[in-house]
Amino acid sequence: MAPRPRRPLVSGNWKMNLDHFAAIANVQRLVFRLQPADYRALDVSVHPPFTDLRSVQVLLGNDEPPLALGAQHCHFADAGAFTGEVSPSMLAKLGIAYVICGHSERRQLFGETDEGVAARAAAILRNRMVPIVCVGETAEERDAGATDARLAEQVEGSLAGLSADEVRTLVIAYEPVWAIGTGRSATPADAEAGAARIRSVLAERWGSEVARAVRIQYGGSVTPSNAASLLAQPDVDGALVGGASLDADAFADIVAAARGVYEAS
Ligand code: 13P
Repeated sequence: MAPRPRRPLVSGNWKMNLDHFAAIANVQRLVFRLQPADYRALDVSVHPPFTDLRSVQVLLGNDEPPLALGAQHCHFADAGAFTGEVSPSMLAKLGIAYVICGHSERRQLFGETDEGVAARAAAILRNRMVPIVCVGETAEERDAGATDARLAEQVEGSLAGLSADEVRTLVIAYEPVWAIGTGRSATPADAEAGAARIRSVLAERWGSEVARAVRIQYGGSVTPSNAASLLAQPDVDGALVGGASLDADAFADIVAAARGVYEAS
């Protein structure tokens, strides 16, 4: 089998869960569970709430272990009169490596648009962090046969204005909305179809070489038992894990399952 063209990334999106005391306990347990072989095979990031980031940063120290710290959202301006928001430059200063943007919960509950996601992605890149840009169709769109069109619209809209050199460095998370928090994960074939569709849109717009470089995660009810079959798909380069990442042992088991897949390929 040919070696995988991209280094996989497994990320834990804690959403609005775990205060800074609980965050320290969770990351300590995770650091204890993750093995050097995990870090050799793939990248791993955790995305706690803003109020936890400094505590986790101090816990993790510099680069040992190489568990990357991520955020879940940011504003697109570096500073200004935006009450309640957190800027990308503040996150960069904290050693944040990845910032999730355009998660479907932010799109649905907080009115984020493709245009706003594109502005955020550009701001994250400008601050030398990696955006994890989320896209995915709703159940209604899927039932109407509109998945491909929706993914094309979201990818083009959420990355509008980015250069090929910028796009090649970012991560896209394919998160079908109907699979998030429902316990109803996409099938491996659905996950592959979505990821392949996203890659073909990238190829059309930014060229096939860029499309080959972009890491595409799958997200939506990923668990230790379904992770291996989902991540074995050729266009799926890792996972964005919600609920299961709140339990360090479950998340470590997902990372181990991913490692098993990638070591075998
Ligand atoms: P669940 O893993 O809880 O379905 O959440 C997925 C998700 O939204 C990750 O960003």
